[in-house]
Amino acid sequence: MPFVTTTESGAPIAGPTATLLYDDWYPALRTDTLKPNKLTTAMLLDIPLVLGRRNDGRVFAMRDSCPHRGIPLSYGWFDGNHVTCRYHGWEFEPCGGQCALIPSLSTHDHLDATRIYATAYPCEERDGHAWVYIPSAGTGRKADASQRRAVPELAKFGPRYRTAHLAADLPCNVDHGIIGLMDPAHGPFVHQAWWWRSRASIRQKTKRFEPIPEGFRMSAHAPSGNSAPYKLLGVYDQPIETTIDFTLPNRRTEIIRAGDKWFSSLTTVTPVTASTCRIDVIAAWNVFYHVPLVTPIAKFFGAKFVRQDQVTMIQQAEGLRHNPSLMLIDDADKPAKWYFALKQARLDSAATGAQAKHPMDGPVDLHWRS
Ligand code: FES
Ligand SMILES: [Fe+2]
Repeated sequence: MPFVTTTESGAPIAGPTATLLYDDWYPALRTDTLKPNKLTTAMLLDIPLVLGRRNDGRVFAMRDSCPHRGIPLSYGWFDGNHVTCRYHGWEFEPCGGQCALIPSLSTHDHLDATRIYATAYPCEERDGHAWVYIPSAGTGRKADASQRRAVPELAKFGPRYRTAHLAADLPCNVDHGIIGLMDPAHGPFVHQAWWWRSRASIRQKTKRFEPIPEGFRMSAHAPSGNSAPYKLLGVYDQPIETTIDFTLPNRRTEIIRAGDKWFSSLTTVTPVTASTCRIDVIAAWNVFYHVPLVTPIAKFFGAKFVRQDQVTMIQQAEGLRHNPSLMLIDDADKPAKWYFALKQARLDSAATGAQAKHPMDGPVDLHWRS
């Protein structure tokens, strides 16, 4: 997929920026891109990262900057155990960042190399993502593991399932990426397709939402009757139930169950920079497990779907460059309003130490046509 956060000439598309949420896990890259003894770069929240996999299998993420003179560590070497800076050869253990060797030190030096640290971020592999924990500035290595939020993981309901991943760069900030993700009203216009739904199928809907910690849930419901994938699940002749959650900082999970058949997805919109983001969809399912070609077919339609959102956001970015004033309406934009309120509550709570206040008092019904 082309990198769309730059113009044809390669210049970054600089739209409005968003406030970023720290002290949380974000997917930096797919771990199948990590090769033995090789360093790979990524960017999260405007932080340049260098990632790799140690000989013992552990995945690591360091700030791509040598603490000595700031040259990117990714220009150096990695032997499976240590990252070596290409400028003066300092060696670092990459999971903790501790310096192991400064080749220039002589017997006359008293400097203890092991007291020097490069910045290493907590990094965990789940569902093929390298999740990196980005602490707020100044907390650094001191933040201890028990204080961290849990590493996100795709829900699975049995040992046998198939999986897929899709990604697309979006040239807008993370807020626009997220509100686009949970916007119920764009479906019939952006995702028109014979296999999904058409404008003519628009109908009035009522969905119940309830507060959950740092997010909200579209309560378990029978899925909309006017979309083909859900109709397909009807072949199992079991009641179908779907639950959609949004949780800070950037996650939408959808679980569809029909008897012992299930489909589960985790979609994240990750700030690459303050003005650009990337959408990742990971999914697992056991529906149609034995039907050949289901994975490539699912990926084909999934990619089309994500591409439709991407194209729309590229067009939107054109408009946003001029900083227009925007609006959020009831009820179709209510989830977007909750998102902004939840985000503000987290920011306020991080600043004051007080408990974050949830914007919802209890369950509420929203009505819209889509
Ligand atoms: S800049 Fe990295 S060792 Fe000097
Ligand atoms: Fe969409």
